[in-house]
Amino acid sequence: MKHLRSIAEIGTDAVMRILDLTDHMVEVNQRANPKVPALRGRTVCNLFFEDSTRTRLSFETAAKRLSADVMTFTVGSSSVSKGESLRDTIETVAAMGVDAFVVRHRSSGVPWQVSQWTTASIINGGDGWHAHPTQALLDAYTVRTELGKTGSLDGLRVAIVGDIRHSRVARSNIEVFRALGADVMLVAPPTLLPPTPLSPSTADLDSIIDEIDVLYLLRMQTERINDAVIPSIREYSTRFALTPARAKRLGDHVLVMHPGPMNRGVEILVDPAEIPGAMITRQVANGVAVRMAVLFDLLASTERPGALEVSV
Ligand code: CP
Repeated sequence: MKHLRSIAEIGTDAVMRILDLTDHMVEVNQRANPKVPALRGRTVCNLFFEDSTRTRLSFETAAKRLSADVMTFTVGSSSVSKGESLRDTIETVAAMGVDAFVVRHRSSGVPWQVSQWTTASIINGGDGWHAHPTQALLDAYTVRTELGKTGSLDGLRVAIVGDIRHSRVARSNIEVFRALGADVMLVAPPTLLPPTPLSPSTADLDSIIDEIDVLYLLRMQTERINDAVIPSIREYSTRFALTPARAKRLGDHVLVMHPGPMNRGVEILVDPAEIPGAMITRQVANGVAVRMAVLFDLLASTERPGALEVSV
């Protein structure tokens, strides 16, 4: 695998390989000294043109645990503010010797564009409304381990609820869950569904909540919404949020997930700490291990002049 820009691009076999590799990275993270020399001599650059807490910090942690060097590019304090173009920025940073760029950008497709300007591997850290493949991998890993599955997710019933139209997480998660055999139901008002159907949908959360295994709540992407797509936040919450009444209806085995950051009081009206199946901090912890697996898969077998020992 050269790049990780979308789930569709890498296919199911690569997804399974990364999920299996993640088990080893979880074991590394449980050691007293969670660091291995696997990527010594490699350099990973976090190139974030949009804000991030989880993705940026977990890639930084993942790279350091594999002994890679990490460069973190923050657009606000870079020469982008003097008018430097995306291409000149990439070519400038690449000239310093970068093996992988983790790219987040508000425009869909930027990771593909960037890969034309450098020979480094490109990892999509979230592009516009389009894709967020490492979020999808960490979510699939969380579901697989929490429900005691080792291979596919055949027959698992996943409900993805909320602002699907503007959500790159939803697009990548639909791809990964369907690739692994799960049934995905989208739950949203018609105005928050994408124009092209991606999976079966309903606007009635209460009609399906008793039949699901995973309740995946999405953040309302207020920064991407220009039109009035819902009558009011209050009405949206009444129909689509996890309320105390809905939380009581969830089966004991049901996993409650959210990619973060959460809009408390919008899509979630209960304290996740009080929900037995809440996976939100587990997702974050698994994010480090999954991103270690991705970096290892992309970089450990590549030849680089002067590279030192490569092993886990
Ligand atoms: N889930 C996610 O992408 O979070 P950040 O925006 O904090 O990286």
